[in-house]
Amino acid sequence: AKKKSILDFYRMKQEKQQVAWITAYDFPTASFAEAAGMDMLLVGDSLGMCVLGYQSTIPVTMEDCISHCQAVRRGAPKTWIIGDMPFMSYQSSDQQAVENAGRFLKEADTDCIKLEGGIRIASRIKAITEAGIAVMGHIGLTPQSSGQLGGHKAQGRDVNNARAVIKDALAVQEAGAYAILVEAVPPEVTGFIADLLTIPVYSIGAGPCDGQLLISADLLGQFQAFTPKFVKKYANVAEIATKAFGEYIEEVRSGAFPTDDHVYHIIEPEEDFQKM
Ligand code: KIV
Ligand code: NA
Repeated sequence: AKKKSILDFYRMKQEKQQVAWITAYDFPTASFAEAAGMDMLLVGDSLGMCVLGYQSTIPVTMEDCISHCQAVRRGAPKTWIIGDMPFMSYQSSDQQAVENAGRFLKEADTDCIKLEGGIRIASRIKAITEAGIAVMGHIGLTPQSSGQLGGHKAQGRDVNNARAVIKDALAVQEAGAYAILVEAVPPEVTGFIADLLTIPVYSIGAGPCDGQLLISADLLGQFQAFTPKFVKKYANVAEIATKAFGEYIEEVRSGAFPTDDHVYHIIEPEEDFQKM
């Protein structure tokens, strides 16, 4: 399949075709996703928890993100890739935001970047867009500011909070974002936003709209610390991997592995070898 562009994503919204996407952090996952026909891939700063074992996304650095984006690009050369800007790579100033957004394109060949926040981050979105870089917004539950939100909690569940989420969505579109991700808000709010905005609106844990995102480590059953309500597990890789490792350990200890199938035999006739 041909690599999709912004124009395909606009068209898909107009034609009411759903966009299916996941996060990917490494070469194998990216290559499986591309082979399966995934519409796009996010190299999320959730890599902090899913790959690096941190308790949150806060410690993740630009270097972590760039390096994982590079691996994902190598695994999925024909897929639209979104680089996720880590905490403190865009919060300080518009200039810092533009410079770090540019690094994703120059150093990791991503197609766009994503950052968290609505009204409060609109000037960053505008500055990055004016630099010629496609921006995806991210509103609702924004994990980098979960300290302010009182934890990883669903947003927009009462009327005032729902209004705030809708205002954020409008601000993100107004600032020039090409698409927006809505995380963990009621489906009624998400549906309203998707109808209101001209840009594509995607959901993670926010009900039906123009497309769905899941975290690959959740979908595959690799991430074990906790499972949000919105996750559907399509596999249990943790169980499969632990079982495979256990069998390997047993076979090494018993001598059942390796067998004659797993060794390289000497090429010379045996007599010559014994003379050496
Ligand atoms: O980092 C990530 O995977 C994300 C999703 C949780 C939306 O930003
Ligand atoms: Na993120």
